[in-house]
Amino acid sequence: MSNRKMITAALPYANGPVHIGHLAGVYIPADVYTRFQRRLGKDVAFICGSDEHGIPITIRAKKEGVMPQDIVDKYHEIIKKSFSDLGISFDEYSRTTSKKHYETSQDFFKTLYEKGKFTEEVSEQYFDEQAGEFLADRYIVGTCPNCGNENAYGDQCEKCGTTLSPSELINPKSMLSGNVPVLKATKNWYLPLNEYESFLNEWIIEGHKDDWKPNVYGQVKSWLNDGLKPRAMTRDLNWGVPVPLPDANGKVLYVWFDAPIGYISFTKEWAEKNGKDWKDYWQNEESDLVHFIGKDNIVFHCIIFPSMMKAHGDYIMPKNVPAFEFLNLENDKISTSRNWAVWAHEYVEDFPGQQDVLRYALLSSAPETKDNNFTWKDFQTKNNSELVNIFGNFINRVAVLTNKFFDGIVPEGDINAPELDQIKKSAIEIKNYLDNYEFRNALTAFMNLARFGNGYLQNEEPWKTFENDLEKTKNTLFIGAQIAVALGNLSEPFLPFTAQKIYDIFNVEQLDWNTVERSKVLIKAGHKIVEKAPLIYSKIEDEVIEAQIQKLEQTKQNNKKTNPNANSMKEQIVFDDFTKIDLRTATITEAEKVEKADKLLKLTVDTGVDVRTVVSGIAESFTPEEVIGKQVMILLNLAPRKIRGIESQGMLLLTTKPDGKLSFVTPDDDVENGIEIG
Ligand code: 2FM
Ligand code: ZN
Repeated sequence: MSNRKMITAALPYANGPVHIGHLAGVYIPADVYTRFQRRLGKDVAFICGSDEHGIPITIRAKKEGVMPQDIVDKYHEIIKKSFSDLGISFDEYSRTTSKKHYETSQDFFKTLYEKGKFTEEVSEQYFDEQAGEFLADRYIVGTCPNCGNENAYGDQCEKCGTTLSPSELINPKSMLSGNVPVLKATKNWYLPLNEYESFLNEWIIEGHKDDWKPNVYGQVKSWLNDGLKPRAMTRDLNWGVPVPLPDANGKVLYVWFDAPIGYISFTKEWAEKNGKDWKDYWQNEESDLVHFIGKDNIVFHCIIFPSMMKAHGDYIMPKNVPAFEFLNLENDKISTSRNWAVWAHEYVEDFPGQQDVLRYALLSSAPETKDNNFTWKDFQTKNNSELVNIFGNFINRVAVLTNKFFDGIVPEGDINAPELDQIKKSAIEIKNYLDNYEFRNALTAFMNLARFGNGYLQNEEPWKTFENDLEKTKNTLFIGAQIAVALGNLSEPFLPFTAQKIYDIFNVEQLDWNTVERSKVLIKAGHKIVEKAPLIYSKIEDEVIEAQIQKLEQTKQNNKKTNPNANSMKEQIVFDDFTKIDLRTATITEAEKVEKADKLLKLTVDTGVDVRTVVSGIAESFTPEEVIGKQVMILLNLAPRKIRGIESQGMLLLTTKPDGKLSFVTPDDDVENGIEIG
């Protein structure tokens, strides 16, 4: 087995924060594996970063009414902080908008281009003439040919789940302008994946039948059985890495071309800072490349990226691609758009100092071979019954009793006691599981050692034997201390914060894995431990869990909205509050622009009660001519306020149309001015 490990974790899209599904299905297992490899003394690079291109980013920007750059700047920071808060120990966490990444992905593209690895194909794509842009499939809406849903997307109908192509939609419309898009010819560069079929068959189907996970192997096999087709590696989009060819104006690299190259760009960034050679990790057969991903990324990491690397010629192939299934939350699919998630950054805020509890709970229900489920009740049980009652209780009792009976000095004991063999057995068992990417089994093997230690103390009862058998008590606490320090060391890949606490309690340094496996004595007799050992875990009360369940309940209520874009209801008011509001019908009689204010119009309004001036922020939606004569509704008794030096007396009722323009709230039929509304 190689001494060098190039470990990557899927680059999360910087279009939202990360949630427990991401953590359980990629980042925590990847971190456990990496920490374990470091402890084995391997030369490790653990690389990740934000995926900042592609349609998921532009859609989010559109939704929030900001630029894509604003979105990625915001979420990159949130995601990066969550990872660091949860102890995900990346050597580098960068972003695909970095300069190095632009250079690296463009160079990669040019190499393939110069080697003649692409085919050029002209195809007809939908184009929005008003917006002057080609439309990604997601930007086209229309009627689903399958179920009649009028809001189906160009790639999928979310109502019936059918996969679609834009040309199948009935009455397609552009989401950018609302207009009917036209088909327009455009040239793009394709990677003929069909030419890599035999290479992929030989490498994966014949070569990795026994060592890759069945879910990964099975998916690749089925893709290959269906036959591969050329896939466009460039897109007509205005957000992404520009295609580095003179005749590619306005085109960018396909996000699934640039993102995996991010692993390489970020390794370069890390290597430069740390005096390493990135090629040792990516272009040397001595290196084991391992990609941790979710199951939706299998095709990209097992077919497309390897074909790109093969076409390039200088790169090694991944040794393994451990892909995870999905985690559900309270028996329902985790969904960013429905806000059905436990967000990493919120967890860190709600459970300060309890990062390892989440790591433990997520690892023990990691969706390794099939989808799995997270519930808050289960989370509480795992903490209270396992971490507190077994692991924490054992560590605490060893530390407290050693202080109580022996002034905190580890007593003499039998270095050949059979109980000490259990440490070696557990270390080997955990190692075998982790080498095989079996994280749940590894965690169980670890907890079994804690159970063993706890049971040992329970049987030996040093709190009783101290009265009449000092030698036995010494031996029990000597062995207890060995198991406790072993647990500290073996917990580190899974529970790094806990490991540190245990090292502090026993006043020891971390050992490498092989030392734990081989030595019987991990803490010598005569060693002084700390006097007042803090608890490594504390009980989580029902109220805390209830509050989390309530938070999800609230989300369920919000999801009942018929319009997902509608804001939630404001705080309730009583009828008396309402009667204070004086709403009237009125007519705009004059209108003019306010100097040096693009958004404002100065209006003269006949309210039936008086004629007054109102300054309104409607200039981007209406010309002055358009509004004169309009019947409107006015909030009459709003205290006047000065806007650009003009006193505005009241406020007109407006609403926003789907295109973002304002629209007046007006009575259905002509009514007199000054009529009360209510
Ligand atoms: O599915 C996703 O969230 C992608 N952003 C993963 C990219 S992994 C890689 F190839 F960069
Ligand atoms: Zn449908």
